[in-house]
Amino acid sequence: MKISIIGTGYVGLVTGACLADLGNTVICADNNKNKITNLKKCIIPIYEPGLEELVKINVRKKRLCFTADIKEAVSKSQIIFIAVGTPSLSNGEADLTGVENVARNIALNMTGYRLIVEKSTVPVETGKWVKHTVSTFVKRNIDFDIASNPEFLREGQAINDFMHPDRIVIGAESKKARELMAALYKPLNAPLVITDIKSAELIKHASNSFLANKISFINAISRICEKVGADVMEVAFGMGMDKRIGPGFLSAGIGYGGSCFPKDVDAFIDIAQKLGCDFDLLKAVREVNESQKNMFLKKIKDMLWIIKDKTIGVLGLSFKPDTDDIRNAPSIDIIRMLQAEGAKIKAYDPSAMEKAAKALDKVKFCKDPYEACKGSDCLLIATEWDEFKELDFTRIKKMLKRPFIIDGRNIYDPAAMKKLGFMYAGIGRRAVTKK
Ligand SMILES: NC(=O)c1ccc[n+]([C@@H]2O[C@H](COP(=O)([O-])OP(=O)(O)OC[C@H]3O[C@@H](n4cnc5c(N)ncnc54)[C@H](O)[C@@H]3O)[C@@H](O)[C@H]2O)c1
Repeated sequence: MKISIIGTGYVGLVTGACLADLGNTVICADNNKNKITNLKKCIIPIYEPGLEELVKINVRKKRLCFTADIKEAVSKSQIIFIAVGTPSLSNGEADLTGVENVARNIALNMTGYRLIVEKSTVPVETGKWVKHTVSTFVKRNIDFDIASNPEFLREGQAINDFMHPDRIVIGAESKKARELMAALYKPLNAPLVITDIKSAELIKHASNSFLANKISFINAISRICEKVGADVMEVAFGMGMDKRIGPGFLSAGIGYGGSCFPKDVDAFIDIAQKLGCDFDLLKAVREVNESQKNMFLKKIKDMLWIIKDKTIGVLGLSFKPDTDDIRNAPSIDIIRMLQAEGAKIKAYDPSAMEKAAKALDKVKFCKDPYEACKGSDCLLIATEWDEFKELDFTRIKKMLKRPFIIDGRNIYDPAAMKKLGFMYAGIGRRAVTKK
């Protein structure tokens, strides 16, 4: 099939490369000319395992190309995905300027029937507005359909998630649209959830909000564990064995971040409110997530007492492992909070330092975890990269000014840390006797 993807970010580029790899002819378009110039040279703007090779192979086979000309993309394709960003406005509402802009551009450049697919995460009823916009600007007598096909890929394992999804959600109004979408995804042999557009839009917001809910729930449990000397990892393990609950998203820590959960929770709260359904439960999810960072700061103070003029080593900057994405990463907020109290920060991350350097001031970025420990008054773990699980702690103990580790991702065993001579605090872990 001939496909266009408008918006060549994490989702657009992965979607484009994967659909090309399935044998379709794909044009990835973006209004960021610099990004397109680089992509034409196969310079990939993000770190995503396997993506560069997938792009190169499909460009070489002439199944994938890039353009900054939306008109070209629209005129040459039958199915057009909208995959632009939908960031939060200051009131939490989703900013749909990009979606509207692309819908109008598609309408103005359509030369025949097109299936226009919402791939971006959007509030319920966006499909109605996309349809209204296209109808307003399209030349008369050109037929089109709208579909919703939300994306569930996770950064860091995006290609595998796209190629082996748990389910593919397709919201459509016409038989033609449903059949086109089902045929496009047939090679993946994945379960299809075929529904109306509004339900498809809601499946995405409800899924992300539910996962955020699980994280905030276990973080709330971790606070109770700390009060009574129980261990949240054992509680989560016991809960997760129940098939009705499942083990995923039950890791206590410094909270969720990234470009999706915080904004999608905000947008879902906002749209629910506008529809007259106050979503108090979700507001509490957001509140727990925000306060988790303050709880972490308190743990640091409980160990260091005074923050001013202390040097703090931070391991991990990306919002989760295997990505260089620092959007809404808890690490960035925590570093800013520590700096506001007068701390000096030394940080290391396997892939996110370049992006973090643009977001943070006065941070010393280190060549490896050990350099971040050297001369620091304590060590923080902010992202659970595998690399941090296998460190030489004898070396680290010698390098730190004080043997203090505050583990925001519970990657170490408190008893083992104590045995190594560290004063260690995790999140909701059984208390370790102070030295
Ligand atoms: N990143 C994820 O893990 C993920 C997962 C599932 C869903 N989503 C959703 O997918 C959407 C895209 O997310 P992303 O992370 O890929 O965003 P992104 O910021 O990485 O990419 C968006 C791209 O759209 C381009 N763009 C913006 N306005 C445009 C316009 N008018 N015309 C052409 N191009 C335009 C930008 O230049 C950018 O390259 C969002 O709604 C997001 O919530 C993201």
